[in-house]
Amino acid sequence: MASAKVAKVKKQSIPGSKKDGDLADESSRSLSDYEILSTIGTGTFGRVVLVRNNDTRNYFALKVMAITEVIRLKQIEHVKNEKEILASISHPFIVNMYWANHDNTFLYMLMEYVPGGEVFSYLRNYGRFSNSMANFYASEIVSALEYLHSRSIVYRDLKPENLLLDRDGHLKITDFGFSKKLLDRTWTLCGTPEYLAPEIIQSKGHSKAVDWWSLGILIYEMIVGFPPFFDDQPFGIYEKILAGKIDWPRHIDPVAKDLIKKLLVPDRTKRLGNMKNGADDVKKHKWFKAVDWDDVLARKLSPPIIPKVTHNGDTKNFDTYSEDDWQKTAPAAEKDVEPFLDF
Ligand SMILES: Nc1ncnc2c1ncn2[C@@H]1O[C@H](COP(=O)(O)OP(=O)(O)O)[C@@H](O)[C@H]1O
Ligand SMILES: [Mg+2]
Repeated sequence: MASAKVAKVKKQSIPGSKKDGDLADESSRSLSDYEILSTIGTGTFGRVVLVRNNDTRNYFALKVMAITEVIRLKQIEHVKNEKEILASISHPFIVNMYWANHDNTFLYMLMEYVPGGEVFSYLRNYGRFSNSMANFYASEIVSALEYLHSRSIVYRDLKPENLLLDRDGHLKITDFGFSKKLLDRTWTLCGTPEYLAPEIIQSKGHSKAVDWWSLGILIYEMIVGFPPFFDDQPFGIYEKILAGKIDWPRHIDPVAKDLIKKLLVPDRTKRLGNMKNGADDVKKHKWFKAVDWDDVLARKLSPPIIPKVTHNGDTKNFDTYSEDDWQKTAPAAEKDVEPFLDF
């Protein structure tokens, strides 16, 4: 098996063109009430930093996005969707957002801090996950996708980099930067090359079906250790996705393989999850035979990895990032801040 080329580097997303927060004791929306500690993640146009509330001493993850970059990369609608959607949902396997705010330089989103780190790091360290480990993570994702789709929300950026482990080892999906509330289909080319469904590449208009495709990619990547379609260049990846040829290592469980094949069906009308019984068809697949879906939602399955977390503000499970003087970013022009006045 040619596994040598598996990328250790993170897959790059390509930007296409709560009930008002569970405020509890975190009602302060003023940045000055938080101490900024260190960067725990960076992305296309911003970073996520660990912060601590000066009064309560609680830790949070603050996503900070430079307004000038959001505009340059034409991500205005996407960041607004991200905030609106995160504010409107609540699910055990989705990161909780407390509030959003902005000044003339940055957009801010205060989220719960999920200290276990990215599934990406665990997967690269393990090489690949066992069938039962992959089954556990896939079960929690199916539960979250079913919830999102029932609210007409398509997630569109499923990948190990956006899946975090909480202190107990349960999943938290983060990064709703490409999620969207759908009435019908949408046409924006966005997502991450390795995880794009054929209909996105072909600009046919796409819907919730793209999340079920990327679930197929994710289960394959967890069990095999690298995604089914990969190349150095996005164009090469797209060609492989459209050609649809998949190598199946011998160790792969035949039942998992059957599910992956049914998710990676190019014809989205025949893709599992996207037919008339929706997510139920996925939940009833025999790879999930032993799964009690009520137990999944109640976080009763036993997590296969318990992250090493010594205290609430522990960042050892994240890479270290240079701080780059990011706080010195220049403010945006007044007219550029305008689209974000209600952020
Ligand atoms: N709530 C959180 N708790 C801990 N780490 C987080 C949280 N949200 C994001 N991160 C880390 O920051 C990284 C970048 O955040 P993300 O929202 O994915 O940004 P981008 O849209 O730029 O990809 C994530 O991959 C993850 O490692
Ligand atoms: Mg991300």
